[in-house]
Amino acid sequence: MANGSPMMAELECRRKPITWILAVTCLCTVSYLLGAWQNTSNALNSNVITSDESNKIGCAHTSPSFGSHSLDFQAHHQVGLNESLLSSVKFPACALKYSEYTPCQDPRRARKFPKDMLVYRERHCPAKNELLRCLIPAPPKYKNPLKWPQSRDYSWYDNIPHRELSIEKAVQNWIQVEGDRFHFPGGGTMFPRGADAYIDDIGALISLTDGSIRTALDTGCGVSAKYSQGVASWGAYLLKRDILAMSFAPRDSHEAQVQFALERGVPAMIGVMASDRIPYPARSFDMAHCSRCLIPWQQYDGLYLLEVDRVLRPGGYWILSGPPINWKVHYRGWERTAEDLKHEQDSIEDLAKRLCWKKVIEKGDLAVWQKPINHIECVESRMVYKTPHICKNNNPDSAWYRKMEVCITPLPEVNSVEEIAGGAVEKWPGRAFALPPRISRGTITGITLKTFEEDNKMWKERLEHYKRIIKPLANGRFRNVMDMNARLGGLAAELMKYSVWVMNVMPVDHKQDTLGVIYERGFIGTYHDWCEAFSTYPRTYDLIHADGVFSIYQDRCDITYILLEMDRILRPEGTVIFRDSVEILVKIQSLTDGMRWKSRIMDHESGPFNPEKIMVAVKTYWTGEPSPAQ
Ligand SMILES: C[S@@+](CC[C@H](N)C(=O)[O-])C[C@H]1O[C@@H](n2cnc3c(N)ncnc32)[C@H](O)[C@@H]1O
Repeated sequence: MANGSPMMAELECRRKPITWILAVTCLCTVSYLLGAWQNTSNALNSNVITSDESNKIGCAHTSPSFGSHSLDFQAHHQVGLNESLLSSVKFPACALKYSEYTPCQDPRRARKFPKDMLVYRERHCPAKNELLRCLIPAPPKYKNPLKWPQSRDYSWYDNIPHRELSIEKAVQNWIQVEGDRFHFPGGGTMFPRGADAYIDDIGALISLTDGSIRTALDTGCGVSAKYSQGVASWGAYLLKRDILAMSFAPRDSHEAQVQFALERGVPAMIGVMASDRIPYPARSFDMAHCSRCLIPWQQYDGLYLLEVDRVLRPGGYWILSGPPINWKVHYRGWERTAEDLKHEQDSIEDLAKRLCWKKVIEKGDLAVWQKPINHIECVESRMVYKTPHICKNNNPDSAWYRKMEVCITPLPEVNSVEEIAGGAVEKWPGRAFALPPRISRGTITGITLKTFEEDNKMWKERLEHYKRIIKPLANGRFRNVMDMNARLGGLAAELMKYSVWVMNVMPVDHKQDTLGVIYERGFIGTYHDWCEAFSTYPRTYDLIHADGVFSIYQDRCDITYILLEMDRILRPEGTVIFRDSVEILVKIQSLTDGMRWKSRIMDHESGPFNPEKIMVAVKTYWTGEPSPAQ
């Protein structure tokens, strides 16, 4: 066919627009890539986040610092946001009387609830119309807490300025005021050689050093005026043995036990054995402990010991010291009759037997029991022990506003008496990266060995990136870390090399409940609903990681209150890492701007094509000011 044929002419005509479209597409792609490259390189090369506006509510301290890398994000992305969202609301400071406010454990609200079984000390959160829309102030003269490990023994008086501690109880052995500091000597009359020696005594009875015990629970970790070993000192001194304890005690109007623990950099949360299950999954703790914790173990048909049994790992230990243990020696000092204490001990021994626990040893002031590794014999023994029965139709892990029941939480089924129910966990530290039994057994839909390995790889990359963009991470500035949506605990595992501990939070309505996996890896955490306040005091976390939290909650409750809650629990100059879509991050930023936070949105570590973005924010330093009336 000749070139000038009508068919060729028609083909030519059709090709022209295609060529044009191709050329324009090419140009657009090149220009986008160039822009993206420029953006990424800017993000890694320019300077620190600067405070460009005056953010002082009270007295100024230092401005936030992120090291030498910028957290810049220039929008290549069209954000179709309503303009009104971007206009920032300025949140005022709450009155100074709220400086230790714990919304769901407010002693004034608590009074309305029954004293029976300590129900009044459980979580009772404010109704919508009672929520505070202001920022909880730090006390005047608040200082950044001392660094770990110094913080284990000392904290600033001005951060928890309780005059009653320094004056009336100045002679107490769990806390002493020395100039501008509190000193926690870690001793007491019950354990006169201190918490460290007390733990050595436990170590002489069960092995604390071979890596088989990693997660521990301290029930009633607080203090007594006279006999205590100090605020969460058990947890504090276990850390040097690589054992991670979750300590809890109720909010106390006088002795802010959990507040002191967290100020010291020791994991703790407000909690109580009352009528609800404690917020941890079944089979989580390798060891549980009570020293003079005053929990009535023998009462309510053994309800509280049944709850300890639920959260203990198969083969886990329960350690009891204080009344009634060694009552023959101590009954006079405890101002109780020998008969009364003997009866209490007999009841506990009988209950432990009916729970199928084995008494390992009782020596001096310590008694140790062990939970069976499976329930084969325990089920058979119900012919002998009619109570408690084995629970039926009950999700063992469900523990959010869930009432305790007088029954034994069943263990996963096994094929032989030697088999560990639910699978054995590896010894620490191998346990952190070994495949957790809950995953290897396929108990969590959609999570497999492959998912686990990919997750670990992803967290390695994320941490490399965080280290570059948040300098304080590597220099020991952070101690108490919270992961608001902890998934498989990948962040905690990657942070192992730093001197931090992580409170891994599992949002209660998450499709996949992986908190049990986190414990199997040897980390600690709790269930929580972020539409409510967390069970902690203000200013207790240095770093908060909010990964996809707001995607979960944006349709469930007003995100303003989640951010105000984060501001409450974050220490002045604390850092928050958000990961979410750019639309959500811009919305968050418009609110955090009004909370006196400094922030930058930037690209995902994998580059600008990833729709997930990162926002890093720092709460600026400010404190409340005493009003003349206060
Ligand atoms: C005497 S102190 C002992 C503190 C610590 N274990 C020690 O040895 O120093 C008792 C602690 O147990 C807490 N406690 C009492 N009843 C409790 C309960 N039902 N649940 C949790 N903690 C409780 C108290 O608030 C207090 O912190």
